[in-house]
Amino acid sequence: MTTAVLEKARSLQRYVWSSPALAALLYPLALAALFRSATLVHERAVGAGGLAFLVSLSLCLAVPAVAVRVAYLLGHAEAASAGEIRARRLAHLAVASPPLFTLIGVALYLLHAPANSDYLLWALIWLGVLVAIALGRADVPAARPTRAAIAPWLVELHGLTALALLLFLLPHVANHVAGIWSAATHVHVMKALRRIYRNPVVEPVLVAVVLFQIGSGVVLLWRRTARPSDLFGTLQTAAAGYLAVFLSSHLTAVFVLGRAVMKVDTDFSFASGAPAGLLLDSWNVRLVLHYFLAVCCLFVHVGSGVRAVMLSRYPVRTANRTAWSVIGVGALAAAVAIVGLAGFHLAPAA
Ligand code: HEM
Repeated sequence: MTTAVLEKARSLQRYVWSSPALAALLYPLALAALFRSATLVHERAVGAGGLAFLVSLSLCLAVPAVAVRVAYLLGHAEAASAGEIRARRLAHLAVASPPLFTLIGVALYLLHAPANSDYLLWALIWLGVLVAIALGRADVPAARPTRAAIAPWLVELHGLTALALLLFLLPHVANHVAGIWSAATHVHVMKALRRIYRNPVVEPVLVAVVLFQIGSGVVLLWRRTARPSDLFGTLQTAAAGYLAVFLSSHLTAVFVLGRAVMKVDTDFSFASGAPAGLLLDSWNVRLVLHYFLAVCCLFVHVGSGVRAVMLSRYPVRTANRTAWSVIGVGALAAAVAIVGLAGFHLAPAA
């Protein structure tokens, strides 16, 4: 190949690497469009508003989708350069745009930063990433860690504590699914569950396990993103990155913002941004994807983990089917939960 063709290929490669950061940069605009279109529907412009709502929702979802696609493409290379590994990690960060934008919003609110400074900080972060990708050397060889570099005990402990955490998470998600019937049903179920997870012994253990999951997850993610990966491997790491940012954001919102600062009951009203709701408030609208994809990612992460364990005993087809079934159940649960949180309920109005 001539030098000119190689140069051309390199510059095209940079466009692909930059696309997750560019998509993330535009994420707040897609959210603003979602809010405006929901407002239009609320003001009875159902036709135009409904169409605009679907388009803006697709644009919001396109941000993590583009980032997962690029992370997947970059995971193919057997001998990735340092630039490719960095771009792959940044693509993982872009997948986590919804909880990262929420975390930044909550943190700046807690710090009494001026209104809309979250938009400014967001733009600065992703413009910085774009500049770093544009200026970075693409072809520096990387020292690829071997399988042994990922400490097996850490993988095992991460898996075991994740199983323990599911004892809280599955009822927690079921609680949000129950909200589709009515807000009162959600609160009723939550009060029953709180007797267990708000127990003075259980709650500190739960929080410690979550913090361990975040810490160990980030270490594993860092190492895994330096190794080649297939589709399920990428889905697993992308979901892991999302959950690490989501849990950091979620615990800050529940424990610091809700309980310590606002001193409110962190119940259905708190989660659903009452009284304005999730869709008709320009700040709360960010919680739509934040929550929806969190539940999806939980099931994607568990489904791909279960598949990896099954591969040593069952045919690939069976393992894949199981993983897709778990992911399908998660997507359904996420959709039902978010519809309820957005204020649409099945119970007849009282
Ligand atoms: C529909 C999505 C979700 C919503 C609306 C939501 C909302 C909430 C709310 C309101 C609380 C406070 C509960 C209370 O005061 O009793 C809470 C706690 C918590 N959530 Fe979520 N959550 C969601 C999904 C998730 C997911 C996917 C995870 C983990 C991957 C998670 C992890 C936690 C943890 C660890 C706590 C702390 C429990 C405690 O109070 O000790 N949540 N969530």
